[in-house]
Amino acid sequence: MRWGIIGYGWVARDHMAPAIRAAGGTLAAVADPCPAARAAATGTGATAYSSAEALIDYGGCDLVYVATPNHCHAAPVQASAAAGLPVLCEKPMAASLADAERMADTVLASRTLYGTAFDQRHHPAHRLIRQRVADGAIGRPVALRIAYACWVGRDWSPTGGVNWRADPDCAGGGAVMDLALHGLDLAEFLLGEPLVDLTVMLQRRVHDYPVEDGGVLTARSASGVLVSLHVAYNCPEALPRRRLELLGDAGQFTAIDTMGQTAGGQLFRTCGSSGAVEPVPFDGATSPFTAQAAAFIEAARGEPHDWSLTRDIRLMRLFDTAYREAQLCL
Ligand SMILES: NC(=O)c1ccc[n+]([C@@H]2O[C@H](COP(=O)([O-])OP(=O)(O)OC[C@H]3O[C@@H](n4cnc5c(N)ncnc54)[C@H](O)[C@@H]3O)[C@@H](O)[C@H]2O)c1
Repeated sequence: MRWGIIGYGWVARDHMAPAIRAAGGTLAAVADPCPAARAAATGTGATAYSSAEALIDYGGCDLVYVATPNHCHAAPVQASAAAGLPVLCEKPMAASLADAERMADTVLASRTLYGTAFDQRHHPAHRLIRQRVADGAIGRPVALRIAYACWVGRDWSPTGGVNWRADPDCAGGGAVMDLALHGLDLAEFLLGEPLVDLTVMLQRRVHDYPVEDGGVLTARSASGVLVSLHVAYNCPEALPRRRLELLGDAGQFTAIDTMGQTAGGQLFRTCGSSGAVEPVPFDGATSPFTAQAAAFIEAARGEPHDWSLTRDIRLMRLFDTAYREAQLCL
C-alpha cells in the first residue's frame, strides 16, 4: 500500500513513517508547506508536494495520513475523502467541533474509509487488557484511572518550528484538547462500551500561554464504570507520568509507560483475593503506531475493522460540551 502523508512534522516523521514501513507499506508522497519537511521526505525517497491538493492530484497514493496541526485537519481529510482515498487523521479530529462535524459530513457522504489515529487502542498491552477483561480476569470492572502527562513549555517544538500547541486558534485548546481524547477513546476501547457522562476541570498553573496546562476529567461508562483521567503539559518528563489502572471486583491491571508513541512498557495483574502481583507478558516490540498502520492497511483492503467515524464524532461531541463548560471557569 502506497501512503501519502499530509503534514510531515514530528509525529509523521518520527513515528508514522517508520510505522508504515514496519507494517509493510511504502511512503510514496508527502505534502507540507515547509521546505525542511519536504527535504526530509525526499531524503527517504518520497515525492514531496507543497499542498495536499497536489498530493491528491498526483494519484500515486492508496491511503492518506493527515498529521497537520489540528486546525488544518479538516480540508485535507475532506479532499482525500472526496477523491475516494481512505484517510487516517490524527487526533483530535479537528480544532473545533464545527470543523469535525463538517469533516464527518463529507466523509460519510463519500463512504470512504476514515479513521481517527487513536494509536493507544493498538498498543499490544492495551489490546491484551481489553481481551483479558472481557474474559473476566479482574471480575466486574468498576473504575479506570489514567495519568497521561508531559512537559510542553511555551517554545516547545520537537522539529524547531513554532509551538502551535500553545495557540488556541491552531490547537483548539491546550493539554486537555491534545491529550485527553486519547484516554477517553482508550477507556471506551478497554471497557468495550461508550462513555455517557463527562465532566472536565482545567488549570493554567505553570505556563504563561493562553491555553490550559493541565486538566482532570471524570466520566461514567454506559454500564457504570467510573473513569478518571489526569492530563498535563506541566509535568516534568523525569516524573512518573504514564500510568493506567483498571480495577475490577476480582483484580486489577496496572500498565506503566504503555501510553505514548513507542513500544513496550510494563503490565501487571494484581489478584483481588491475595494481593499477589504478577507481570503479564505482551508483545513489547510492536509500537502502537506500527500496529495502527497495519490495521489501517487491512481495513483499506476490505478486511473487517473497528474504525468508526460515527463513534469518533460522538466522542468529540461529548468532549466538546464538557470542555467548553470547563473553559468558562478557567
Ligand atoms: N497520536 C499521537 O501520539 C500524536 C503525537 C503527536 C502529535 N499528534 C497529532 O499529530 C498532528 C501533528 O502534530 P506534530 O506534533 O507532528 O506537529 P508538527 O508541528 O511537528 O508537524 C505538523 C506539520 O504539518 C505541516 N503543515 C502545516 N499546515 C499544513 C497544511 N495545510 N498542509 C500540509 N502540511 C501542513 C507543518 O509544516 C509541519 O511540518 C496534531 O494533530 C497532533 O495532535 C498525535
